[in-house]
Amino acid sequence: MGLYDNGQSMTDQLIKFIEHLPLPVVLIGEDRRIIASNATMRTVLGEDWQGRHFITALRQPLLIEAVETALVTGAAQRTVFLDRDGGRDRTFSVAVSTEPGYVARDRFLSIMAREADRMTRLVDDLLSLSRVEETSRMRPQDPVDLAALVDSALVETGPVIDTVKARLSVSLTKGTIVPGDAGQLRQVIGNLIENAVKYGPEGGTITITLSDIGPQPRLRADGVALTVHNEGEGIAEHHLPRLTERFYRVDNHRSRARGGTGLGLSIVKHIITRHRGRLEIDSAPGQGVTVRIILPVQT
Ligand SMILES: Nc1ncnc2c1ncn2[C@@H]1O[C@H](COP(=O)(O)OP(=O)(O)OP(=O)(O)O)[C@@H](O)[C@H]1O
Ligand SMILES: [Mg+2]
Repeated sequence: MGLYDNGQSMTDQLIKFIEHLPLPVVLIGEDRRIIASNATMRTVLGEDWQGRHFITALRQPLLIEAVETALVTGAAQRTVFLDRDGGRDRTFSVAVSTEPGYVARDRFLSIMAREADRMTRLVDDLLSLSRVEETSRMRPQDPVDLAALVDSALVETGPVIDTVKARLSVSLTKGTIVPGDAGQLRQVIGNLIENAVKYGPEGGTITITLSDIGPQPRLRADGVALTVHNEGEGIAEHHLPRLTERFYRVDNHRSRARGGTGLGLSIVKHIITRHRGRLEIDSAPGQGVTVRIILPVQT
């Protein structure tokens, strides 16, 4: 999406330029009316909407908010939303940019390249989510060594942890074997560590603990708990129950700047449910965030 001054001499050229781009593009003027949309966008919107107020054409609250914020602040925005079209779910990842006409061409090309990368990641995440959903009735039964998985995840994320100068405090009870799917549990651990790194403060401490916690009536089995804690401002209580929703992100500056898609914790939730385990997320202002997963040790 682009936002342009009406009547600029470059506008016609720009309209020609966007017409055949393979991604949907719409140009919106400072008067909030649609200057033009390209061919791909017209198939999404159903019609041209030229000259109409953008709210009547775009309708999605998240998208409208992103465009409005871009218009008011001049800062580029991005958002992801889910659209239900006759029973079919479509996911849109949207970039809103506010370049004046004359620098727009180059910016468009680089935005396209970046969007293609993001879309690849998004598609990967959605595929993995639907794979987990498909198999959710079958409880995985392979013997999995959790401490070994955490160790290997730490080796992989080590360089990133170094980059943000985070300190690690790790305490793992070795040798606990759970029935599970090693690939999926590895993904869970990776997601939680990645979040702690992304959303914890630079130079903060990330604490990872794996311990046997004995009989768990709710699981009807002995349990093992993996907790990942990061320091920082924490998450306000009203967000906590929603964090595992697809695309839900706490709308603070940090998570926007980190550019995630908001799918990580929903994938975690599905995987843990499939393993008949529990996921708990705790936070208090100034106390950082603790994510805890509990898995049954016996089948
Ligand atoms: N450890 C954490 N500390 C603070 N905030 C967190 C933490 N983990 C998650 N969040 C908040 O919860 C939101 C959802 O997290 P989730 O992992 O589902 O998505 P994401 O990290 O934004 O994107 P993705 O994981 O798909 O790359 C994040 O955007 C962030 O606002
Ligand atoms: Mg994440």
